[in-house]
Amino acid sequence: MEQHELHKLLDQMTLHEKIGQMTQIPGIFYSGLSAEEMALQPLYSKNILQGENLYKMGSVVAVSTAKAINEIQRQYLENSRLKIPLLFMHDAIHGYKTIFPIPLGLSCTWDEDLVRDVATETAKELRAAGIHVNFSPMVDLVRDARWGRVMESFGEDHLLTGKLGAAMINGYQNAPNGGLNGSGVAAALKHFGACGAAVAGKEYNTVDMSRREFLDYYGKPYEIAIEEEPKFVMSAFNAFNGMPATANEELMNDILRERYGFEGITISDWGSVIELINHRVVANPQEAAALALKSGTDIEMSSGTYLENCEAIIAEDPDLLHYINEVVLKLLELKNELGLFENPFADEVYESEVLLNQNALSLAKETVKQSCVLLKNNRNLLPITDHYQNVLLIGPFAKTQELLGAWRCEGKFEDVVSLEQGMQEVFGNRFLGAYETYDNCPLDVVAKADYIVLTIGEYWDKSGEGRSSVNLELCDAQKELIKTVNKTNKPYACVAFAGRPLALQSVIDDIPALLWAWYPGTQGGVAIAELLAGHDTPSGKLTMSFPRASAQVPIYYNEFSSGRPTSSSPYTNRYQDCEPGPLFPFGHGLTYAKLEYSDFEISNPVITADKSVVISFTVENKSEITTSDISILYIKDVISQAIRPVREMKKWSKVKLEPFERKRIELELELDDLSYLNVKLEQVVEPGEFKIFINDLSQAKFTINY
Ligand code: BGC
Repeated sequence: MEQHELHKLLDQMTLHEKIGQMTQIPGIFYSGLSAEEMALQPLYSKNILQGENLYKMGSVVAVSTAKAINEIQRQYLENSRLKIPLLFMHDAIHGYKTIFPIPLGLSCTWDEDLVRDVATETAKELRAAGIHVNFSPMVDLVRDARWGRVMESFGEDHLLTGKLGAAMINGYQNAPNGGLNGSGVAAALKHFGACGAAVAGKEYNTVDMSRREFLDYYGKPYEIAIEEEPKFVMSAFNAFNGMPATANEELMNDILRERYGFEGITISDWGSVIELINHRVVANPQEAAALALKSGTDIEMSSGTYLENCEAIIAEDPDLLHYINEVVLKLLELKNELGLFENPFADEVYESEVLLNQNALSLAKETVKQSCVLLKNNRNLLPITDHYQNVLLIGPFAKTQELLGAWRCEGKFEDVVSLEQGMQEVFGNRFLGAYETYDNCPLDVVAKADYIVLTIGEYWDKSGEGRSSVNLELCDAQKELIKTVNKTNKPYACVAFAGRPLALQSVIDDIPALLWAWYPGTQGGVAIAELLAGHDTPSGKLTMSFPRASAQVPIYYNEFSSGRPTSSSPYTNRYQDCEPGPLFPFGHGLTYAKLEYSDFEISNPVITADKSVVISFTVENKSEITTSDISILYIKDVISQAIRPVREMKKWSKVKLEPFERKRIELELELDDLSYLNVKLEQVVEPGEFKIFINDLSQAKFTINY
């Protein structure tokens, strides 16, 4: 459609139809809910989400498959007056049908290109299934592993989170395949803002933080990702500095639109407009709708509160009509850009060709390999060399295909390669079999084993939304299992599946080698088996610190300097009953290869606005194993007018190294990289010394001056 036709369409719409475009409902309402089923939907304005109103809605959430989507679209277009096709939205946060590692795992690849490719493949599958908008990426900064949704995040660093978020948006929306009118989908960046900072890691809890902390840390990932122009931003469930995000003008207008320049469409989270009543900032649905609308929430997800109340609200405040027209025009433009007016239906045959296609599966396998983090490898117990001829697999995750993690969208367990299947394929007749408990494993099999792989971790449904936990330790049965296997005195290694960092202090001494596999997705078992066998090496690095004990969270590498820096004295920044620092820090990760760093050089010791500083060094692979090197550059501002973190990650590089290959790495720092927000909230670089660290935080490599 031409732009003038969209304007014409807008002119033909009644106010009720316009508000309908700004309303999103779950697909279940189109299947003709019985009175009893309707009664079970406590959130919704039930009288509004039925009859003719169903054919005025703008978008639908939580339906998948081309067949189901086409049915709703057909029903809608047959019954609606203006025949404006529905938008379908869903959460494919780490794949749609082909499931990739959970986002926290993806972040451990430190690889923007790979993450972009994952998003491109996900978009292809989504689009084939008839879905137009993906509620992803989530760029909530996380520092507290009690929050179950850390699995959806890219970890504790704001720059990495922002860059990976941007890469995902680029992959979803642009795709090398014709953008939104090809196989791209619109991205919805979420959850604005600071959803990951819920007090005590408790789901849906409130957030209170200084503006400085928000703008310099929690808000940064959104700011960076918004440069990629996601079509949507979703507001958070939580209250932020005294006002629920859904009705928070400071967040939605001052920061998001004015400061970050977001020009797309905002959408509430599920039911969070009507939940303003529970927050007790309004007394009834009409006030809830008015407050959210006036604070800049464009689409209301799932409660029908807008549709039920907006006409009355606009009668009282006709100026809002201008804003409503702007939002609806943006929605029509998006539907047009997606080509929906010409082709509102998905092609079911094409869908069957695209889902789980070979390209996506190979990418999924590669991504698992890059996202696994080798946390410990005493005596080079990994990889399992040919020296070991009888490899036994034990533990609660040995046989399961439930390796997809939360938010698995259309991913099906039956499509997953379990670790047992993977090891069978990779180790062949060196594989003795898989047993979920030690007691189930016949004694002669244990006796025959010359190497044991033990699976540990946390079940997939223990992380994700609504899965905050106070206890980050392994369960007692697994602690026992570790002791038992350790007592066999056989060489062994653990593979862990989990959606979050766990607190492993109490067991770590009994674990000689540990591969952290997160929730790896469809190709998990085979990719991990290949890593165990040494076909490839793990190379991931942690993006979230691992606490020693549960009560040590929030824990993160870039904490502010304290007046009493940590030491052995109790009167310093520490706990009396826990060793200081994380068990495994941000940036930690081993490989099977041997990497050596040398010839560190700096281009110039003084940085100015016109002259950046380039730090270069050689990384050499001194082994026969092809690997990747992830090198991370941190700065420390020696003296600043306001407190700054003890370390700040500013740059990183990832390079592939063939056996015995050397590569020169260059990391460039520009003046802006040294800047921060002072207490007056001015972005400044203050003159003085800055220390530069590469990977090793114990010793600065260079000092530069500004
Ligand atoms: C979650 C969002 C999600 C939405 C739609 C909410 O409960 O917080 O992340 O996008 O549901 O499924």
